[in-house]
Amino acid sequence: MALSIEDMAVFCKKKGFVYPSAEIYGGIAGFFDYGPLGVELKKNLEDQLWKRFVRSRCDVVGIDGSIITNPKVWQASGHVDCFEDIMLECTKCHHRFRGDHMIEDKLNINAEGISKEDVDKLIKENSIKCPDCKSELGKANQFNLMFDTNVGPVGENTAYLRPETAQLIFTNFRLVQENARMKLPFGIAQTGKAFRNEISPRDFLFRVREFEQFEIEFFIHPKKTDDCPMINDVEAMEINILLENDKDHKKAKIKDLLSKKILSQWHAYWLGQFYKFFLDMGINPANLRIRQHVKDELAHYARACFDIEYNFPFGWKEIHGNADRQSFDLEQHAKHSKKDLSFFDEESKEKVTPSVIEPSQGIGRAMLAFMFDAYEDDKKRGNIVLKLSPKLAPVKLGIFPLVGNKEEVTKLAMKIYNGLKDDFACQYDKSGSVGRRYARADEAGIPYCITIDFDTLEDDSVTIRDRDTTKQERIKIAELREKIINLL
Ligand code: GLY
Repeated sequence: MALSIEDMAVFCKKKGFVYPSAEIYGGIAGFFDYGPLGVELKKNLEDQLWKRFVRSRCDVVGIDGSIITNPKVWQASGHVDCFEDIMLECTKCHHRFRGDHMIEDKLNINAEGISKEDVDKLIKENSIKCPDCKSELGKANQFNLMFDTNVGPVGENTAYLRPETAQLIFTNFRLVQENARMKLPFGIAQTGKAFRNEISPRDFLFRVREFEQFEIEFFIHPKKTDDCPMINDVEAMEINILLENDKDHKKAKIKDLLSKKILSQWHAYWLGQFYKFFLDMGINPANLRIRQHVKDELAHYARACFDIEYNFPFGWKEIHGNADRQSFDLEQHAKHSKKDLSFFDEESKEKVTPSVIEPSQGIGRAMLAFMFDAYEDDKKRGNIVLKLSPKLAPVKLGIFPLVGNKEEVTKLAMKIYNGLKDDFACQYDKSGSVGRRYARADEAGIPYCITIDFDTLEDDSVTIRDRDTTKQERIKIAELREKIINLL
């Protein structure tokens, strides 16, 4: 039987990946704390994204904006007026539900972008009642997802926790472009927390109220969105794609989508780059697809949007959003701040307000996809094996003295641990049988375990065990570091 989202939440808590926030007080819906393994996995994921899409590219630089900023930012961006979901409230128990989710759950249809009038109509036609107390549901309402707060002691200065990292990139756009001397096309990236007051958080890390994002706003000359010099990096990639009017996804090459003008070159480039990222980090290609947004579900700022979805036990769900935001945000900020955010593009000799492609990566959702994809209940071994890519694995090496209470062996094992721990995340484990230690390592996703035994004292060799194959190899201590570098 497939692993449910509830089973995954139990596993994550038991192994120290993720806990309900402040569970001793009963937790709080939509908030989670990361444990010792989870925090490392999250950092590794963020580091891989940052390394691939910021440090190793000369056309992308990073910033770290504040969580609370001038509230005018959110008026200009449209979030104060438009960042809403449809809410239903039970007339008796007053429990609240998301309108589109209620329709999807009860009628098994896609309700992305549905209007509140249509929610009311379908609720009436199908006599849908409160799932908790079976009473009448009230009329659908719009509910704004922004968390507000007060800045300063007087309590009159309403501000908001940011619902996306993107806006701080737009507000700093001119400064960054000047300081870093960036020329079009170029990107600005940011990773950090975002907050949304979800009506009904659900599915563990999938729909939460506080989460991390990694976002890039990639600025392009508005007349050159179909002129991507790197398009051949992704053109030949075969992807699973669900187009807006299709029922099921099909296989296609990115160049097929381009020839049908389904998206612009730069949009295809960034979508392909992130699809590839998931594959390179070990996701099974059969569990990944791209879905084109239908017109009604497009965010207020987007001309086109594609999600990368993962095949979770609760259905295909978005783990990455990739939007064509055009110059909507820069134009809005120019209008509201009365500052000129256009600039002179030396190549075209034109003053332009760039067009923007936005790859937006939710860290928790991606992490959840990696956990599901890696999770294997190995009946032969009698334990779970978490086959995470070594790049993401929270701990890279388990170091085990075979005889945990023999001083010569533990001393040598500790020496090996001390020699490796500054460069690789290591876990020293001397308790229990070596079989138990291997099982613990498998469940934590540790890709390689090094065992130090009595023979090591004689022949200066250790055993390296591979998590996925369980194969063991004897290797000289002097060659260990190079071997590990090659493996990882
Ligand atoms: N910046 C897009 C999003 O947060 O969904």
